[in-house]
Amino acid sequence: MRLTEKVHHILTNHLKEGDRAIDATAGNGYDTLFLAEQVGPSGKVIAIDIQDCAIRSTREKLESAGLIDRVRLVTDDHAIALRKLIEDDHENVAAITFNLGYLPGSDKSIQTRAESTEEALAASIQLLTLADTFA
Ligand SMILES: C[S@@+](CC[C@H](N)C(=O)[O-])C[C@H]1O[C@@H](n2cnc3c(N)ncnc32)[C@H](O)[C@@H]1O
Repeated sequence: MRLTEKVHHILTNHLKEGDRAIDATAGNGYDTLFLAEQVGPSGKVIAIDIQDCAIRSTREKLESAGLIDRVRLVTDDHAIALRKLIEDDHENVAAITFNLGYLPGSDKSIQTRAESTEEALAASIQLLTLADTFA
């Protein structure tokens, strides 16, 4: 089983209708689409990517699936975007996915880097801990 399939399998058992989830590396939108299906019509997904072309691709995928209404798209570095969500102090987040690397079929020089990934993971732990507090 591929690692992404394994993660999806684990999240299928964890996420429920109405949850909020974040895709920290939206790319071509496969993981965003999966999360949007899991959280259902009353749930919300925030999809972050540093590249406009990835966000466009994710938008197209979610529009085709008729699920764009439950997705907020954010073009930004995930470390910055996740920190902003903590400052907003309103996100009750059930899961955050990272699929590291570069966007397939795109500029390979734009890829996730250890430093910002570490910052993004630290912010994610905080967001997921906030979720526990509100549960
Ligand atoms: C392997 S792809 C993600 C695949 C995606 N999850 C999917 O389902 O198609 C990695 C993505 O991370 C994005 N990325 C690289 N550095 C980033 C950063 N600092 N913040 C947010 N996204 C970043 C790239 O633009 C690329 O689209």
